[in-house]
Amino acid sequence: MLVLEKNSITEELEGLVKEHGCERSALMPILQAVQRKHRYISDFAQQEIARLLDIHPVEVFSVISFYSFLHSEPQGRNIVRLCRTIVCDLAGKEEIEKALMRELKINAGETTKDKKITLEHTNCLGMCDQGPAMMVNDKIFTKLTPEKAVEIIKTIK
Ligand code: FES
Repeated sequence: MLVLEKNSITEELEGLVKEHGCERSALMPILQAVQRKHRYISDFAQQEIARLLDIHPVEVFSVISFYSFLHSEPQGRNIVRLCRTIVCDLAGKEEIEKALMRELKINAGETTKDKKITLEHTNCLGMCDQGPAMMVNDKIFTKLTPEKAVEIIKTIK
């Protein structure tokens, strides 16, 4: 079973290399494609990408670690990103975060047991004048209060 899984990931990655090429510049589009499909980039996929692009696996991991939208661990079906940048921080981000962690029973950076929701931080969402702000999947919510944030989360629970 594991061998089959590995073969299918390898085939998928070989297809992506055909599509994007095997230059170093293909790394980001390949990582984005894998992230989109699987919601994370497994250790095995990272090794295979490194092999196919002829780069060191550490380079692949560094890129994944640098970008907050790439993940090396499985993510929930819904991603809640709370802005942690200074303006939202001053506008009450901490209270929002506490309310979300209480409601979801997880800490920031974790995924609920049922794999429905991942809670994480993000940098500025470009809505500083309307903070605190958070993004749920692709939708941005602003002027949050702890109550409003919890109500939003309940719609995806
Ligand atoms: S600081 Fe939070 S949206 Fe800009």
